[in-house]
Amino acid sequence: MTKVLIATEKPFAPVAVDGIRKIVEGAGFELVLLEKYTERQQLLDAVKDVDAIIVRSDKVQADVFEAAKNLKIVVRAGAGYDNVDLEAATKHNVCVMNTPGQNSNAVAELAFALMLAMVRNHFNGKSGSELKGKKLGIQGFGHIGRCLAKIAHGFGMEVYYNKRHRLDAAEEKELGLTYCSQEDLFKQCDIVSLNTPKTAETVKSINGKYVKMMPQGGLIVNTARKEIIDEECFLAALKERTDVRYATDIQPDMHEEYQKELQDRYLATAKKMGAQTAEANINAGLAAANQIVGFIKDGCETFRVN
Ligand code: 3PG
Repeated sequence: MTKVLIATEKPFAPVAVDGIRKIVEGAGFELVLLEKYTERQQLLDAVKDVDAIIVRSDKVQADVFEAAKNLKIVVRAGAGYDNVDLEAATKHNVCVMNTPGQNSNAVAELAFALMLAMVRNHFNGKSGSELKGKKLGIQGFGHIGRCLAKIAHGFGMEVYYNKRHRLDAAEEKELGLTYCSQEDLFKQCDIVSLNTPKTAETVKSINGKYVKMMPQGGLIVNTARKEIIDEECFLAALKERTDVRYATDIQPDMHEEYQKELQDRYLATAKKMGAQTAEANINAGLAAANQIVGFIKDGCETFRVN
């Protein structure tokens, strides 16, 4: 019988697991569950006889492909698939997919939660400021960027964006966006939200130079990958520009130094939680299950990334 494994170090909400089970068992497949695992070996043991795997940020590298002799497909329930070794997957003839857009609203809402916490001084009772009338710059305009723009308009913000391939004028108008170069985004916007994927081009692309470009009292919010920040010079610039603030969903490797040096100009979630909502888990988890069934039963390769 076709076996589908959910391998999640950070588990889905139970309601999402129930939904995945319905789809997988409804297709006549078997579902197995490995949650909150702490040792690599647990993952390697669990994948031995499975045909398909659903993961989140779990690392799916060569050792997994070598251990999983029956594996045909891995679906990353989420957007960023930098945790999957695509070369090793292709070498082992395994299809890799993601589920783009399925958790983007959750991430966008968290970006606003971080913004609000910062402009309201961590809710400590001191007078803060409002988002209304401020300029929001969205760096990397994909599914999350679109959600951010909608929410920002609700707050009465002006929305700017930067993207490798600029949208056409009609779409910019419809979405109420103004296009900027990356530099101008940081120079002009009160708040910049980082939403680029981690690629060879974007790793360490946000450095101290951008901190120094920000207007007085600027705020940078990162709900993308920590690797897009050049941590050391970014922190050095934040130490110089004592008015600029930084909030992130992903703790930098230098988290303790950031905390010590920046104090309340810095906020990091305890664990990456942008997509940690029941809704996002349902959307991404069920999409992953349906994509596996479609691939195994009908050879459907939509959202294949390798
Ligand atoms: C994604 O790439 O979809 C997000 O970073 C969510 O990751 P998570 O599933 O590990 O929370």
